[in-house]
Amino acid sequence: MITPYKDNKSGKKEQVAQMFNNIARRYDFLNHFLSLGIDRIWRKKAIQCLKYIFPNPVILDVASGTGDLAIAALKLNPEKVIGIDISEEMLNVGIEKIRRKGYQDIIELQKGDSENMKFDSDFFDGIIVAFGVRNFENLNKGLSEMYRTLKTEGKVVVLEFSKPKIFPVKQIYNFYFKVVLPLIGNIISKDNSAYTYLPESVNQFPERKLFIKELEKVGFKDCTFRSLSFGIASIYSAVK
Ligand SMILES: C[S@@+](CC[C@H](N)C(=O)[O-])C[C@H]1O[C@@H](n2cnc3c(N)ncnc32)[C@H](O)[C@@H]1O
Repeated sequence: MITPYKDNKSGKKEQVAQMFNNIARRYDFLNHFLSLGIDRIWRKKAIQCLKYIFPNPVILDVASGTGDLAIAALKLNPEKVIGIDISEEMLNVGIEKIRRKGYQDIIELQKGDSENMKFDSDFFDGIIVAFGVRNFENLNKGLSEMYRTLKTEGKVVVLEFSKPKIFPVKQIYNFYFKVVLPLIGNIISKDNSAYTYLPESVNQFPERKLFIKELEKVGFKDCTFRSLSFGIASIYSAVK
């Protein structure tokens, strides 16, 4: 299993929470800087996949972090967006941001583990996740919890990095992701592992058809995916 801190004896979940706690204050800046702002476009596209679900939906943003996807979900005119995350520091940055923007009545960020949610079954109209599933300790458990808490006919949308396959995007991406990104990311985030863990975790993640299989395994139907930016990221969607 790929974990952020190789010499650390604690489990992946604790290490991931620790890593995001460490980088939380610089996370938003690094996200936009290292992706040249494309991450915002990807989040918007992910949210568009939910535009035909129930009116004024109640949405769960899993692994919400600093809440950018939850904020993007306001486009759906939701009754409520609940974001959960295991990293308290990421949530603190998100809560401040949401308060600053005046969205605190609609978006609520809470500490919570995606692999063991405290919500009732069949509760949410839609579930969204951006760059979260790759970090789960147990992917199957996380996806099963999403399935359980989603209403029948509700939709889940997952945005995650994938590996481009075509020349020369693949070669440029490999150089950028494995050399440039760890160098800049680790210096600015002041965490020696975070941006080395990122390409490693993307590399071992079951992407595209393999991820579709994971969604089907827990019961989702109509599972599809589409590539973004020559395959650097993918959006998966599925229905309960
Ligand atoms: C790369 S960040 C993504 C944050 C946000 N969704 C975004 O689009 O920027 C991944 C987040 O997943 C969270 N995470 C990882 N495992 C989790 C779990 N089991 N339950 C809840 N959050 C988790 C981390 O704490 C981190 O904030």
